[in-house]
Amino acid sequence: KILKDDTIESIAECINQGKAKKIIVMTGAGISTAAGIKDFRSPGTGLYDDLGKYNLPFPEAVFDLAFFKETPSPFYRLAKELFPGKYRPTLTHYLLPLLAKKGLLLRSYTQNIDSLEKMAGLPEDLLVEAHGSFATSKCIQCSIVSDSEWVKEHIMDSNIPYCKRCDGLVKPEITFFGEDLPSRFRDMAQIDFVDCDLLIVLGTSLKVEPFNKLITQVSPRCPRLLINREKAGQELHSGFDFDDKWKYTVQRDAWFLGDCDVGVKKLVSLCGWEDELQVMYEA
Ligand code: OAD
Repeated sequence: KILKDDTIESIAECINQGKAKKIIVMTGAGISTAAGIKDFRSPGTGLYDDLGKYNLPFPEAVFDLAFFKETPSPFYRLAKELFPGKYRPTLTHYLLPLLAKKGLLLRSYTQNIDSLEKMAGLPEDLLVEAHGSFATSKCIQCSIVSDSEWVKEHIMDSNIPYCKRCDGLVKPEITFFGEDLPSRFRDMAQIDFVDCDLLIVLGTSLKVEPFNKLITQVSPRCPRLLINREKAGQELHSGFDFDDKWKYTVQRDAWFLGDCDVGVKKLVSLCGWEDELQVMYEA
């Protein structure tokens, strides 16, 4: 057996016994809701339930390339709301630099575009922003890179940034539906996931491809922990085994269904790192 059972305690035991030295952490919008940022799909509170004012044909249209080309203003309005700078990292974000400091973090893969991992002090080489970020912007027509400050000023002043060269729309390099993920995502994932010896998945519904498929790319003997308010990723082939189908043979999945900050606190306290995490959070 790989894990004693499906609890967070089993995962902590793995770490404490020195069996997890190449940890990958995958994250989603659920790690940032405690910072005041909406997630996407939580019924009632998620962003996709709150886009009425934008008059969209369907919620995901706000991140859809074809729709954006025709009707760019909803995205820029949302970008103004989401632009990094207003929010602080949560306790969960500090798990990443903590694991890095211990030399246990192989990489963190995030779907988030809020840049809170970097703000929490995670070195950039340990981070893969799978859905891009606001840090750089390009013209969608001629691909020329625009000055980030200039783009930010336009967005914050509710003006659409048009390319100075060809008049095309200048878009922050956030991955839209209909676009490829950044090449760093593919390149790093190919090397990292075969090497991973513990996968921790935090605050994501695992509904979006190809990111969700990453959970299936670790070795079949690699333990996996999900900390999320709801079950996720069970419908993927080799997804989380919530039914304990493999309980008597190769149990390798564990989960904590609740808030990320609560689950992360539990995990670090079982590892004896609670004070260290708190100091980083309060610094
Ligand atoms: P979702 O909104 O799909 O999922 C967030 C998950 O986090 C849900 O399962 C929530 O129950 C859970 N959750 C919310 N707050 C939590 C908390 N405090 N503690 C624990 N769990 C919590 O967000 P993502 O999975 O990140 O794409 O969505 C993936 C992608 O879909 C996003 O990156 C975005 C979107 O379209 C782009 O922007 C390109």
